[in-house]
Amino acid sequence: MRWLQRGSGVVLALLLVALVGWTVITAAQEEDRAAIEPATARKAATLVLARCAVCHTTDLIAQQRLPQDRWTVTVEKMVHWGAELSPEEAAVVIQYLTARNHPGAPDQLPSIEAELATMEPARAQSAASDGPLTGIAARGAALFAHNCQACHGEGAVGGAGPKLARNAVLKNEGAFWETVLHGRGPMPAWGAVLNRQEIADIHAWLTTR
Ligand code: HEC
Ligand code: HEC
Repeated sequence: MRWLQRGSGVVLALLLVALVGWTVITAAQEEDRAAIEPATARKAATLVLARCAVCHTTDLIAQQRLPQDRWTVTVEKMVHWGAELSPEEAAVVIQYLTARNHPGAPDQLPSIEAELATMEPARAQSAASDGPLTGIAARGAALFAHNCQACHGEGAVGGAGPKLARNAVLKNEGAFWETVLHGRGPMPAWGAVLNRQEIADIHAWLTTR
């Protein structure tokens, strides 16, 4: 009988380890959900509108309720299918969708567009705030391809969004910056995703079109 007693001791110990492990994992999952800064959420929501909604509605995304590992698989699949996300951007989107659309989330959530509209505006940025910037067109080309081309077309000739090549808005820097930083209608606001130098680089490249 001694071995049996020892055996049940081992079983008890294993149960204890399992219980502690489970508690730790559950706590970690809770933390994954909770740990999202407002600025990160804003950036992620902008990325979803700008990079995911070019192929399907955000409703297709928002109706899902998935744990983090399944969001990771889904977003990786979308990147494979053509979603323009760097690994760092994909991580932000996964974090946001896990926090928002986890299996315990309510059935009715506001749309991602509505949620973005209620978020605090990104840190005030303006073209004039730190003096003029010199945009570098060679860098702007890649930034445009990554961020803007899906809607404004290859070479900025237009698509779902207006033609930007030779667009008068390029000469009106106030209007250009206002639209790009804060968005307009279906055009996402970029202030949370791109810094001023990057926007200046895109502007510089657009003026060469
Ligand atoms: C290049 C086009 C494209 C882009 C960009 C894209 N998707 Fe998709 N996505 C699809 C297609 C095609 C389907 C399958 C559509 C269907 O079943 O109706 C799909 C389906 C989905 C689904 C449904 C579940 C599934 O696994 O099929 C989710 C969730 C999803 N996408 C999330 C995203 C997210 C998040 C992004 C941005 C990171 C994104 N998608 C960007 C093409 C795209
Ligand atoms: C999801 C699609 C989408 C993406 C991505 C996008 N735009 Fe737009 N953009 C639009 C739409 C749609 C409009 C027209 C808005 C309106 O009708 O008020 C627009 C308008 C603009 C305008 C104003 C044009 C004018 O004639 O006044 C500028 C400038 C602009 N976008 C720049 C950019 C830049 C730079 C990027 C990348 C950083 C970008 N857009 C990414 C959809 C998009």
